[in-house]
Amino acid sequence: MALSVVILAAGKGTRMQSSLPKVLHPIGGVPMVQRIINTVNELGANSINLVYGHGADLLKTALSDNALNWCLQAEQLGTGHAVQQAAEYINPEDDVLVLVGDAPLIKADTLRKLHAVKANADVALLTVNLDDPTGMGRIIRDASGDNITAIVEHKDATEAQREIAEINTGVMILNGADLLGWLDGLENNNAQGEFYLTDVIAMAAAQGKSIHSAQPESAVEVEGVNNRVHLAKLERALQLDNAQQAMLAGATLADPARFDVRGELTVGNDVFIDVNCVFEGTVTLGNNVRIGQNCLLQHCTIADDTVIEANSIIQNAQVGEACQVGPYARLRPGSVLSKKAKVGNFVEMKKTTLGEGAKANHLTYLGDAIVGANANIGAGTITCNYDGVNKSQTLIGANAFIGSNSSLVAPVTIGDTATIGAGSVVTKDVEDDALAIARAKQRHLTGWERPTKKMT
Ligand code: UD1
Ligand code: MG
Repeated sequence: MALSVVILAAGKGTRMQSSLPKVLHPIGGVPMVQRIINTVNELGANSINLVYGHGADLLKTALSDNALNWCLQAEQLGTGHAVQQAAEYINPEDDVLVLVGDAPLIKADTLRKLHAVKANADVALLTVNLDDPTGMGRIIRDASGDNITAIVEHKDATEAQREIAEINTGVMILNGADLLGWLDGLENNNAQGEFYLTDVIAMAAAQGKSIHSAQPESAVEVEGVNNRVHLAKLERALQLDNAQQAMLAGATLADPARFDVRGELTVGNDVFIDVNCVFEGTVTLGNNVRIGQNCLLQHCTIADDTVIEANSIIQNAQVGEACQVGPYARLRPGSVLSKKAKVGNFVEMKKTTLGEGAKANHLTYLGDAIVGANANIGAGTITCNYDGVNKSQTLIGANAFIGSNSSLVAPVTIGDTATIGAGSVVTKDVEDDALAIARAKQRHLTGWERPTKKMT
């Protein structure tokens, strides 16, 4: 059955102490509500209706890539009132999945399980048993325990009801037509003076509807964020999950508690990742890749048998097989390393391709350059790619040898097997096999005397 989704995200999130709406706080590098939208998209929803209240401009900017129906709830009069704001978009023929915007770790599999329960019931409720259910809506069942008859909010519950450990997660699936009818009947004569969505359950039960439940694998999936302490707790839970996935896929992690994936990480077999590495965007590590301590890898591919040494930063780059990078290397966008290339400490690269076996081992800037196979770039080499207005390219041939502390003023071409004397400032193309030296000649002045201190 087709799904319409309603995400409740109008609450202010006062306890976040933030000018950013609560649901935009990131978890695993993605705003909480975006993570929920991504999960829902895995299910293939007909429409996603976002009930919002605070921070409209910020929300609309942050979520602009999504196809959403924006449902303003100007005043937060309760979760039932919130769903009412989406009523015009609810297709009576659809199953309607209601989610809360501040419980970001819900899994698609759990929602599929709930949807499967809904296939044989009029209402499917996601519930969970908590050791401490304080503050939550309690699930009331009939004497047999099989049928749910109501949800009672903590503030409205009797002492006996407060003993119930099974709580409402806020996630449910109902028939569109039923839901629309029940929303019309909601009242706010309760302890909080709110229109509770949860009251529809008693209405359903009164009409003899079947109300069945499903449970998530872990309670953390439905845990809400109210403050930054909760956010940090869920972030760690998410990262531990990411760490487990990486380990099960073939990576040894020096410490799963010091490992952060803010995107999609794919690992091959026998990968080793040392502590404090952060992976952002889409990152792929081949077999036998080793990553040293404190590395940041964003949107990059690292092929088999490559070693990234400690404290390296790799952004929008492609690193080939059996390369060696770092420590302290920075590969900026458009860096491409062919097989067996080496980039050492304090080397920065941008829009530059290193040919197979080429080396830039120390203290170098390579920007807008193409470096041939087995070329050796000496320490302190700079491609002067920017004249203050335009960027120009440097081409370095295969087997070229660039002496230390050379400046290659682009546009310039250094031929195959050419050699550049150390300390050269190269402004003209150098032909294949030639030696170019472009620096003042060393002079020796004999009989020269050092200055002496003048007496006054
Ligand atoms: C709600 C449930 C409770 C459940 C708990 C799970 C009701 C009445 N109670 O309680 O049974 O155990 O969630 O966390 O539904 N929201 C709006 N507009 C509003 C009010 C809330 O959009 O007017 C949104 C909030 O932003 C939040 C979600 O709805 O994302 C839940 O609201 P919250 O105030 O946290 O409800 P609880 O009191 O926790
Ligand atoms: Mg809550």
